[in-house]
Amino acid sequence: MTRIHNFNAGPAALPLEVIEQAQCELPSLNGVGMSVMELSHRSKEFQSIVDSAEAGLRRLMKIPENYDVLFLQGGASQQFAMLPMNLRRPGKSADYVDTGSWANRALKEAQITGAVNVAWSGKADNYTRMPKQEELKLQPDAEYVHICSNETIGGIRWKKFPKAETPLFVDMSSDILSREIDMTQFDVIYAGAQKNLGPSGLAVVIMKKGLADRAPENTPIFFRYSTHIKDGSLYNTPNTWAIYLLDLVCKWLEARGGAAAIEKSNEEKAAALYNIIDSSDFWRSPVEVESRSIMNVVWRLRNEELEDQFISEAKKAGMVGLKGHRSVGGIRASIYNAVPPASIKALADFMKEFERKNG
Ligand SMILES: Cc1ncc(COP(=O)(O)O)c(C=O)c1O
Repeated sequence: MTRIHNFNAGPAALPLEVIEQAQCELPSLNGVGMSVMELSHRSKEFQSIVDSAEAGLRRLMKIPENYDVLFLQGGASQQFAMLPMNLRRPGKSADYVDTGSWANRALKEAQITGAVNVAWSGKADNYTRMPKQEELKLQPDAEYVHICSNETIGGIRWKKFPKAETPLFVDMSSDILSREIDMTQFDVIYAGAQKNLGPSGLAVVIMKKGLADRAPENTPIFFRYSTHIKDGSLYNTPNTWAIYLLDLVCKWLEARGGAAAIEKSNEEKAAALYNIIDSSDFWRSPVEVESRSIMNVVWRLRNEELEDQFISEAKKAGMVGLKGHRSVGGIRASIYNAVPPASIKALADFMKEFERKNG
């Protein structure tokens, strides 16, 4: 079996141990006699998987009892629409911090259904940094402040989260569980699963209890958070396969020491690449040092031809997913929790050799 070095931005690398366990349990899950995909979502066996997945996330993220944990479909993109529909009451406004492609999509979605205040925008700087606290123009009476913790395309992250007087909502799709966080500073965290939590087709929403009651009465039943909270994420048929894999990923992470241990490893993995990028003028990091992501490392070479050559030679050397997003170009290595240090070493060695030959 050959496993390639996978630097995809999402869907992305999953832990090999998780894939192997899923493979092993595919024909018959733990004595159930069928695969998880064939199991009723109303069965006690599946209920124990949902319960275990939720408990695992709660332990890993230290989620207090006064938050609900939901497993929904529609990806993080559906949350861009559901949040303002449910949590910004008629006549009220919400603050959005425009830090890149994803934060911008969230704010565009919110503008359709009501008032939005753009509290800061990095557009003029090509989204190359996160703002300082004092740059944010927050409204004291906003319903909430929305941020994206890690911009997957631009390769920037909030190292330290902003403070707000109003509830703080965060799209954590591309760095959830990559580092230790204090959950209590947020009222809502949501994430598409396909980077650090499992496969695509699943979004996790962690929401302070009581918030969902704000939803206006004309919110469609299916799009109300309260519907899914009441039925424990089983109002309709969920993505059973993805929830099962998320449970396995949580167990994998706990066995490796949880958020603190993975944060240390992620910092080391990212530093190995940034050290090379900073070592000579051959490489150029387009983003501010303080804002650098430890999940999506982006860089440029002296021209696009050389970038194409880098990507195609890397592919031949067994490394895929290194092409920057089509909207920005350049090179991007997505190095989520499941990308092993051995893949980082392979990439770092390849970079040094590429520079020696082409520098
Ligand atoms: C930060 C961020 N938010 C939202 C999304 C959209 O997620 P989905 O494709 O699950 O809707 C992505 C996808 O890559 C992302 O990186």
